[in-house]
Amino acid sequence: MPEAMRPIGVFDSGIGGLTVARAISARFPNHPLIYFGDTAHLPYGEKSPELIRRYAASITQELVGMNCSVIVVACNSASSNALAEVRDSAGPNIPVIDVIHPVIQAVSERFMGQSIGVIGTRATIDSKWYQRLLENQGCEVIAKATPLLASAIEEGFYEGKVSTALIEAYLADDAFSKINALVLGCTHYPLISDEIRKALPNGIEIIDSAAAVASALDNLNASLTPGSEAVEADPLRKFIVSDLTKSFQLGAERFFGAPVVLEERKLNNRT
Ligand code: DGL
Repeated sequence: MPEAMRPIGVFDSGIGGLTVARAISARFPNHPLIYFGDTAHLPYGEKSPELIRRYAASITQELVGMNCSVIVVACNSASSNALAEVRDSAGPNIPVIDVIHPVIQAVSERFMGQSIGVIGTRATIDSKWYQRLLENQGCEVIAKATPLLASAIEEGFYEGKVSTALIEAYLADDAFSKINALVLGCTHYPLISDEIRKALPNGIEIIDSAAAVASALDNLNASLTPGSEAVEADPLRKFIVSDLTKSFQLGAERFFGAPVVLEERKLNNRT
């Protein structure tokens, strides 16, 4: 396969990373993309760092085996706990993009030294990765784990009473009324960003990783071909899951508004 046609490999535990995959596809519409949803092991947010590392390394090996030229860790829980393992598995010639550094870059451009809220899974918040990186930018950080949100979204509970009640309960904290921006530190959360916005006082900006990651790819000298002519790839976007689940199928179809063909691949991770 010529270098320019090697796919971008993207992974998450479930449908959340599709928000990142869609932003990448919008920026590189003719570039092949392989999406891996680790449905057998979600939610990652409730797993130990050790398990997340093992899963992330296995998926990276799968994507490398499928000739991906870049790996995008479209999951905050894996980005904050398993980046070194993903890089090791990708090897020296395959760049790895995580979802956290591009967000920190976006914050540093506009909110340096300001007060920033972060919500994410327990694994992400407990890793203190966001807190450390944002504090390095002189920011005051209000971080909160919101563990039920990703599972609710995965189950299709968004734009409705369940997600609204969860968001209101999690954000009913005075500290959030004083922030300048709120980082959605889980790739599932852009699916409920309108509801999150309604639960926050006016004027608080919401920052999510999707757009930030897509622009981080621009900076890569990785044989990507933004805006180039269509390439022959069959199919242009491929969806792989570690367990064929109805919730992923329905979630992905709801997300794209079109039927999605899934392929199953069990992970070889000795668990
Ligand atoms: N979407 C993922 C994240 O950004 C994982 C959510 C989960 O599986 O708990 O952390």
